This record gives sequence, C-alpha cells and structure tokens, in this order.
Amino acid sequence: DEPKLKQFYIGSIDQGTTSTRFIIFDGTGQPVAQHQIEFTQMYPQSGWHEHDPKEIVTSVEQCIERATQAFIDMGQDISDIKAVGITNQRETTVVWDTNTGEPLYNAIAWPDTRTKGMVRELKAKGGADQLQDICGLPLSTYPSSVKLVWLLKNVEAVREAYDEGRLSFGTMDSWLLYNLNEKKEKSIHVTDATNASRTMFMNLYTVDYDDMLLEFFDIDRTKISLPKIVPSSSPDAFGSLTHGPLKGIRITGCLGDQSAALVGQQGFSPGSAKNTYGTGCFLLYNVGEEPVISKHGLLATIAYDFGGKRKPVYALEGSIAVAGSGVKFLMNNMGFITHSHKISELAASVEDNGGCVFVTAFSGLFAPYWIDDAKGTIFGITQHTERGHIARATLEATCFQTKAILDAMERDSGHKLAELAVDGGMSNSNLCMQTQANIIGIPVDRPAMRETTSLGAAIAAGFAVGIWKEFDELKAINQKDRMIFEPNISKEESAKMFKKWGRAVEMCRGWLD
Ligand code: G3P
Repeated sequence: DEPKLKQFYIGSIDQGTTSTRFIIFDGTGQPVAQHQIEFTQMYPQSGWHEHDPKEIVTSVEQCIERATQAFIDMGQDISDIKAVGITNQRETTVVWDTNTGEPLYNAIAWPDTRTKGMVRELKAKGGADQLQDICGLPLSTYPSSVKLVWLLKNVEAVREAYDEGRLSFGTMDSWLLYNLNEKKEKSIHVTDATNASRTMFMNLYTVDYDDMLLEFFDIDRTKISLPKIVPSSSPDAFGSLTHGPLKGIRITGCLGDQSAALVGQQGFSPGSAKNTYGTGCFLLYNVGEEPVISKHGLLATIAYDFGGKRKPVYALEGSIAVAGSGVKFLMNNMGFITHSHKISELAASVEDNGGCVFVTAFSGLFAPYWIDDAKGTIFGITQHTERGHIARATLEATCFQTKAILDAMERDSGHKLAELAVDGGMSNSNLCMQTQANIIGIPVDRPAMRETTSLGAAIAAGFAVGIWKEFDELKAINQKDRMIFEPNISKEESAKMFKKWGRAVEMCRGWLD
C-alpha cells in the first residue's frame, strides 16, 4: 500500500559513460532527491577513449553526499534508506594493484577502438569462431577481454603486476564496489552476472569464467585476480558503504546499466524489450531462461540474475556505439548547439534531413554490422545543407541502427515486436522519438519518469532486502502518463529512407588509417 511504501527509500548509483548520478527513490519508484556530475572524457589519440578511475570514485562519493544532503534538507531521515544499488557503464576496463589498490592505467572505456588491429589478428586465430557460442559476444573492439590484452601487451606496470601475481581486473562495478567498501584486508572483489557477461571471459551457460575463453586471450588465471561472479540482487555479496553520509548501508543490487534499464522498464517476460538512448543506444530483448546465440549480428547476454530460486534471464542485445555521444560531438566539437537538449530545436529548424545521411561510426559500427574500420561519414552534402540537416541526420543515425537491430532480432527470434519501450537522454526529444516510430513502423512507448536505469538498480537492491518479493508488486510503478508515438509516414517512404542508410553503411567501411 502506497503510504507504507513511501516510507522506504533506496539509493541508486548510476555510473554512466559521461556522468555519474545518485538518485534516492521511494518505495513507489519515484525519485525524491538526486545529484549528477559529469567527469572528464580523455581522447589521447584518435579512437582512444579513457576515464580516470579515481575521478570516477570521487564523482560517486560526491553525488552520494549532495543527494543525501538534499534528502536531509527535505526533512527526511537517512535511516529510512534501506539499501543501495549500483548500475554502471559496461565493458569499460580497470586494472589495479592488488596490494596497494592503485589503478595501473586509466580505465579504457567501452567505445575505445585502439584494439582494432589486435582484433583483426585474433579473428584469424584458431578457435575464434567458437567464442560466440560460449560467451554470446562476437569478437570486436567492444568487450573487456581485448582491452585487458592490450593493457598486458602495452603497459609495463600492468605486465609486471601480472607476472608478479598482483594484478586485479574489473569492470566499473567491481572497481566501485572495491572502493566504496574501503580496501580492507579481505577486500570485496566481485561483479554481477550481467557485467561479467560483457567481458568475454564468462560462459553464458555456467555463468562462470570459462577456461577456453581465458586461454584464447592468453590469460593465466593464477596470475590475475578476476572478480567473483555473483547474482545482480544479493543481501550480502556486495558489502556496504564504509564511508560518507550513508556509511553502514548495505549495497544489495548491482547490474550493468542496460540490464538495469530493462528491469526499470519491467521487461520481465520473454518477448519484452527496451531501447535506451544514452551515450550509446542499447536494445535489450528478453528471451527467457535459455540464451539465444544470434546468427544476425546481435549479442547474447545475461539480462538480469535475481539469484535465490530464480534462474538467470537472458537477452538478445543490439548495441549502438553512438547516440548521445553524436549529439555531444555536434555540441563540443562542431559548436552547433550550446546544450544537448537544444538538438531537437536545431533538428526542427528544417523539414527533413535535406538528403543527408550521417553514419556516426566514431567507434566503427556495432550491431548488427560490426564494421571495426568504419569511420564517421556524412553523405549527401550540397550547398543546400544546413546545421539543422546534420542535426537531423545525427538523430536519424541511431533510429536507423535501431531499425536494423529490430530486423535482426526478428530473424533471430522469429518474433516481431509490437511496440518499443524507450528511455534515456535522447528519448526526451519528441522529434527523435517520432522519427524512431516512423522508421521502425511500430509505436514507441515512453514513460514519464525516464530514470529507468537508476530505478532498475534500486529494484534489484530492494528485492534483496525484501521491500519487494515478486515482480507483480512493481506493476503500478511508472505506468502513469506514458507517451505513445505512432508512426505517421507511409511504409514506402520509411523503406526509402532506410535503403539510403543501408547504402551509406556500405560506403563507410574500409577507411585507411
Ligand atoms: O555497453 C556500454 C553501455 O553500458 C554504456 O551505456 O548509457 O553509458 O551509453 P551508456
């Protein structure tokens, strides 16, 4: 019952690609206090993308402090915060010294393509074609495995630590849990199944590290500390906050941000899907308790694992490397806009894309194409082209890739989606969501409260401490005032646009460095 649920609060750390936030939700799923901090993006060379692991920890600590202060200022009592959940950018790779806890290099962020050449070589190696059947992921620059191999080959301090058996590896969840728990003698070094399924070291069927995968990447388990894989919702696996205003509160939920968004959208039944337009854009389609290995360019991944008597649930995923980062590119590099939300206005200043197609392949092209050597390319520029056309083409690029992913998903699953649930920054743009509906030819369904990623982590944390026990109890959350965008152009018109996009994709491959 509502008044009772309102007395419970759950904190949610969302450590994304460009910003960190901490949101405190009440038991009805409404955010009551929050804080967000953007942190430094480092691009030391073309195709490289790094984060400072310590700056990220500080950003989390500051977000917790400020949001908690706002919560207290509202007259709330922090003893009503029952648990904290973590959700995070996936694949981004951190290595640190097991003895000192010091990072040994910057975190290599998921869109980084420095491993392009290495991936080409690995693809030619024996056994490469069997990997996807075990871990669900195609060999590309995207997963953590190739980032770790690069670090071992190119950073002396990392190699030395490995040779001396004091190298710790983790994705951002592991790094944060390690630091938020304070490095005690018995430090917490864990990851949840959703994050682990992005490393390319995990067997999707056993939900544990796989010797064949580790051998393929030449990783000797005796020399490296890999985080223990645990369920996404757990009363005791993630430790607790050992400092800051919420000191003593247990961390009981942890899952990769795209999994969290699926949970936040309540995509609990097989056949449900969501598309999150963040820095990149990620479509997750729930396939149930058995993985489906894609034959059409998608990933198989763990959707969520609530532990206990529940089995892990799997998803087919379509990953798009560039969505919000394309908008940021127009703002920071091109100076087209002064704030991301102005993209809609600029795109609306023209009637259509004016014949422009922008393949925003800044990290090569991900699903379903997997073209590592593609580069961002704009086609169709004439004297008529204005900034508005480029803005429109930037938004459309994500919408076209979503269409390609839905087509692949239909081929893999034999099921056609009836409508697409959306969230994330770019979903705030009505113009973008209308374009999306037009391009995919099915309705797009947007919730009023779009912090679904954070909400998903809060739900995982809440389950572990018994605030909710069954998914049915969540049914009322975030269902009011959803907005539906119905397609409003003809199928022929939409097909014509998509054909042009397909042609542009073919022409953007094979760039020489
Ligand atoms: O796989 C990368 C993904 O987890 C990043 O999400 O929302 O930061 O683009 P986001």
